[in-house]
Amino acid sequence: MDRKKFLVIPAGGSGVRMGADVPKQFLLLDGKPILRLTIERFLEAEPDVHVVTVLPEAHMGWWRQYCAKEGFTCPQKMVAGGFTRFHSVKNALQHVPDGALVAVHDSVRPLVSVEKIRELFAAAENAPAVIPATPSTDTLKTVARNQDGTPEVTGSVDRSTVWGVQTPQIFHSEVLKKAYERGYDTSFTDDASVVSAAGIPVICVEGERTNIKITTPEDLALAQAILSLK
Ligand code: C5P
Repeated sequence: MDRKKFLVIPAGGSGVRMGADVPKQFLLLDGKPILRLTIERFLEAEPDVHVVTVLPEAHMGWWRQYCAKEGFTCPQKMVAGGFTRFHSVKNALQHVPDGALVAVHDSVRPLVSVEKIRELFAAAENAPAVIPATPSTDTLKTVARNQDGTPEVTGSVDRSTVWGVQTPQIFHSEVLKKAYERGYDTSFTDDASVVSAAGIPVICVEGERTNIKITTPEDLALAQAILSLK
């Protein structure tokens, strides 16, 4: 089946961990806002993709002006963000039809490769939910705060069963929209967790270690270094 391709970019966060005045998705990397670099990766991979960008209400005007001034003319539906990432994606899904493939990709992961985007879309033709994931190389522990408030190890985890999950996560749109009909749960930190809660199998494709999520000032420096390698 030839499904149309949609991209939902949740960029509705305020990015407090970065400590900057501007949300992290608007900080410059290689002279462009991170959000623009992220969308450009998808346009390069899939030129006909339909883009739905979720923005903080307070920054919608700024983004509109930036796109006009800098000639970033890709057609995009702009949607106001919600209280959490879950609510932001849910708002965006109102603008995605059934029968499509929808990729949901964090605005702050501009380094995903064009090849990986294409590989994930191709895999999603035959599976309702496909995500990029990488096996853990770190030793993993469970940790809880003790009586003094100090983090203390409470156990070990078999790392062969724990993979780190990235985006873009790609779904049959009618499956994702149905899963998002349920109420919010704090465990819903990505879209696969919403789909899993609805009992849908989620398939993993090997992720990329360079597809980092820019969250802290150190990540921004790391992203610049990765870009200069290419
Ligand atoms: O905060 P976190 O790192 O999980 O954010 C992941 C992505 O979700 C970011 O692109 C951020 O802008 C987005 N987000 C959103 N709406 C929120 C919170 C986060 O679109 N309310």
